[in-house]
Amino acid sequence: MEINNFISSWLFTLILALAPLFLLLKLKQKCVNIRHKLPPGQMGVPWLGETMDFYRAQQANRLFEDFVQPRMARHGKIFKTRLLGSPTVIVSGAEANRFFLSNEFKLVISSWPSSSVQLMGKNSIMGKQGERHRHIHGLISSSLGSSSAEYLVPKLSKIVQRHLDVHWGGQERINLYHFTKNLTFHVVFECLLGIDVEMGMLEIFERILEGVFTPAVTVPGTRFSRAVRARKEIERMLVRIVRKKEEEMERERENSGGGGGGNEEGGALLLPRYVAAMLRGEMSEEEVIDNIVLMVFAAHDTTSFAIAMTFRMLAHHPNCYQLLLKEHMDLKSGKGEGKDINGEDIKKMSYTWKVARESIRLFPPIFGSFRKAIVDIEYEGFTIPKGWKVLWTTYGTHYDPEHFPDPTSFNPDRFNEPKPPYVYVPFGGGPRVCAGYQLARMNILVLVHHVVTRYDWSLIHPDEPITVDPLPFPVHGMPIQISPK
Ligand code: HEM
Repeated sequence: MEINNFISSWLFTLILALAPLFLLLKLKQKCVNIRHKLPPGQMGVPWLGETMDFYRAQQANRLFEDFVQPRMARHGKIFKTRLLGSPTVIVSGAEANRFFLSNEFKLVISSWPSSSVQLMGKNSIMGKQGERHRHIHGLISSSLGSSSAEYLVPKLSKIVQRHLDVHWGGQERINLYHFTKNLTFHVVFECLLGIDVEMGMLEIFERILEGVFTPAVTVPGTRFSRAVRARKEIERMLVRIVRKKEEEMERERENSGGGGGGNEEGGALLLPRYVAAMLRGEMSEEEVIDNIVLMVFAAHDTTSFAIAMTFRMLAHHPNCYQLLLKEHMDLKSGKGEGKDINGEDIKKMSYTWKVARESIRLFPPIFGSFRKAIVDIEYEGFTIPKGWKVLWTTYGTHYDPEHFPDPTSFNPDRFNEPKPPYVYVPFGGGPRVCAGYQLARMNILVLVHHVVTRYDWSLIHPDEPITVDPLPFPVHGMPIQISPK
């Protein structure tokens, strides 16, 4: 009894003590609201805000329909909410995309969960700003520049054919999504970086990727702690590979007179470019390692989902498939026996690219991404206070009938006309626009070419559900029935 009395009086004192603090906080919030006109919207319960609604909608792959659209209908194209403790403003539309994406580093910076930063490494491009960011982005996109197709397409084509021979030969059923994940991994390492994939590497990377969006808790047994261990394992492998390349390139430099002459950049491959930058003192070893890890993260699930959705749309639209098939059969018969495709042939796959773009419009692999305001931002008559998060979305324009009439229907011919800037944004925009866009494009086109010219195929689950964790993927891995032509 005495204990109960003691607890009651203790609680009463605590409430009395905290009440002024609570009132003060409320008053401060009111003052902020008066001084700055905050966007409309609900901040939800303390700390959690509307996180649970957000996650529920995300897991069902209905984030736009169930979370964003109802709030847009109530508040308009810009509204506030609170996610995992952070006040967040969600914005939609081409103008918002332009404003926030092009003002990277000036008004906003990209904002990733702590687990992603720890696993990718704080030296990867996603944590870089200003000149350091421009340098790394430039290295990646210049190795995928306009002349790269000539060199990359034949290499990519060989890898795709090798994978089809090894994994599809003698099979009747293939798990397309998992196949493309494996393929994309080899493409990034062999075509882009110039590193031979070693035994076990893919499995280690998958363990890292599993932890990228989980809570950064290092208690043994959690996905994050497994991912941290995997990250250390891959780091050891990559340090060995980078140092070997460094020695090779230093030897080459000495042999060519020490003046740094010769083909120091190693053609289009990214590892020699990174190591050359290291030898010039422009990049550290940590930056090289972290950016290799990031590249896999950026390419892996995105490209695989884009490929899976392209095949799904082709299966659902046989007329489109016939047009696409003709494009590839004509190309193949025009080349003559035994001749492989090259960079020029990619340009002839214009209908296929429209099909892929339309599939990616309907099923963007990236929902959108978070930014953090680095100053108070005035936008559309509202203030977004410094420190708040901003989430821009691909869906906000991809499903807007003003830009894409009858937006839920599949119509590759929409892309007969170019789209205005910041309307079609599956690859983002502004300084952080996807650095691997060209590789993703070539990967999709080359794979489609070899599959449709070599195999008849059909979906086993035509309406397979899509789930999100945190990127979207088909729940059964998109099994397909195949038979050689
Ligand atoms: C269909 C496939 C792909 C899609 C839909 C996609 C989408 C995106 C998007 C939306 C961004 C911008 C994120 C932001 O604004 O915060 C981005 C950034 C990036 N992507 Fe991709 N991506 C794809 C494939 C690839 C591939 C194959 C690579 C490389 C091999 C790659 C490398 C990168 C890198 C390095 C960045 C960071 C750029 C920066 O921070 O400056 N992506 N991607």
